[in-house]
Amino acid sequence: MTATIIDGKVVAAKVRERIVAATAKLKAEHGIVPGLATVLVGNDPASEIYIRNKGKTAKAIGFNSFHDTLPAGASEAAVLAKVKALNADKSVHGILVQMPLPKQVRDEAVLDTLDPAKDVDALTPYNAGLLLSGRAHLVSCTPAGVMMLLKEYVGDIAGMEALVIGRSLLFGKPAAQLLLAANATVTMAHSRSKDLPMLARRADILVAAIGRPEFVKADWVKPGATVIDVGINRVDAGEGKTKLVGDVDYEAAKEVAGAITPVPGGVGAMTIICLMHNTLIAACAQNNLPLPTAL
Ligand SMILES: NC(=O)c1ccc[n+]([C@@H]2O[C@H](COP(=O)([O-])OP(=O)(O)OC[C@H]3O[C@@H](n4cnc5c(N)ncnc54)[C@H](OP(=O)(O)O)[C@@H]3O)[C@@H](O)[C@H]2O)c1
Repeated sequence: MTATIIDGKVVAAKVRERIVAATAKLKAEHGIVPGLATVLVGNDPASEIYIRNKGKTAKAIGFNSFHDTLPAGASEAAVLAKVKALNADKSVHGILVQMPLPKQVRDEAVLDTLDPAKDVDALTPYNAGLLLSGRAHLVSCTPAGVMMLLKEYVGDIAGMEALVIGRSLLFGKPAAQLLLAANATVTMAHSRSKDLPMLARRADILVAAIGRPEFVKADWVKPGATVIDVGINRVDAGEGKTKLVGDVDYEAAKEVAGAITPVPGGVGAMTIICLMHNTLIAACAQNNLPLPTAL
């Protein structure tokens, strides 16, 4: 059996169309233009590319896009002052402080300062708590994107066994909560879990967010399962070149799985569009308007 390839670009394009239409309507009917502000501390080249792409996508959708770069040596107080200024700026509905931060700036100090209403990465304890309570409207972008892919390609996942490998605040924990809320039976695994292959073979939905290239092998995959590969790993491709691979041995796993996300072009394609969706939701929520749905 060869798996259905889950095309993140197609789903992202569909969500994008809806966001563009909802943004135009928001402007025409209420005079509101969603504003996304990004903050980069330092000049990490990968972070610069991410930030540039976020700004470009925001503008193309019809949002206002704001950006500040602070020097790599900026003090924590200077970063917090910037976040406070953006919290107070009414034209800014969403704030994204690019991680990782330099070591003199504590992640938790930034997250404790960020207004949860503008926390479009959904990393603040307040938004994490709302997710746990089943009341979140801002949900971490990559897990939100994964749920959209499952909705499109699997449909109702009630009663299915889901395994999430990885327990980060950014992905694993919110992904497990969303799968649980969709009535899957959820297991979370991590670096101390025993017999990962056995846990994986039970999973109707196998989600890998580990950060290790091709770690999940084809013989871990239950025949017909849906495999969601969140990993993005740059590896040597020979002749001085590099390539991106996921956390799953894709070529072999796609012969066993029922459906699988490629890397790139799967989960990664959803993340930026979910950030835009969160910004639109934040703009509506801050103006007491009904919240848009993505799909
Ligand atoms: N597609 C996207 O847009 C997107 C977005 C976010 C992340 N990512 C990618 O997804 C991957 C994970 O990201 P992250 O931020 O969640 O990473 P992270 O914070 O480094 O977390 C990795 C998780 O994997 C677990 N792990 C590590 N080695 C393991 C092993 N041998 N067996 C089982 N579990 C193991 C760790 O367990 P412990 O907790 O026990 O250490 C941890 O929970 C990375 O490749 C990242 O680039 C992609």
